[in-house]
Amino acid sequence: MSQQSPYQILGEEGIRKLAHTFYDVMDELPQVEKVRKMHAVNKDEIKQKLTDYLTGWMGGPPRYQEKTGTVCLTEPHKPYAIGPEERDQWLLCMDIALERTGASDELKQMLKTPMFRIADTIRNRETSEQEVKDPNIIAAG
Ligand code: HEM
Repeated sequence: MSQQSPYQILGEEGIRKLAHTFYDVMDELPQVEKVRKMHAVNKDEIKQKLTDYLTGWMGGPPRYQEKTGTVCLTEPHKPYAIGPEERDQWLLCMDIALERTGASDELKQMLKTPMFRIADTIRNRETSEQEVKDPNIIAAG
């Protein structure tokens, strides 16, 4: 018996619900302030983009690729400082969104490692500390 893809398990509507809930969680959760502040207040557009992206990534039609010509997420994330803390905040929103949309334990298990991998690939710095821009600060202490 071949395993079902996340796309087959969730369906179009399930993926749309997951992506929308994900950004609703981001809007609400006090502990994800860092990632919330990076995003536009109006999340209509990003909700659609994440729905498109996840649809292809989960084994369905490649909607994001059809619209943008790529599945590479490095470029669109370049303007943002994404360290381990930001990555983990993003993943926390996803965990809660999966919980809220009633995902099965099997699906959560299936997504855990690949979701971490893609988020860690998007991470573009080693630490989440702010860079020290003024070299004189060293002498100030
Ligand atoms: C690792 C932590 C991540 C952070 C902090 C982050 C943050 C962001 C931000 C700030 C934007 C721009 C939002 C806007 O335009 O208002 C964005 C865009 C986007 N993100 Fe992420 N993201 C992360 C991980 C991910 C992951 C793991 C995925 C997919 C599974 C993803 C999918 C997308 C997509 C599809 C876009 C839209 C890109 C476009 O404009 O074509 N992100 N992200």
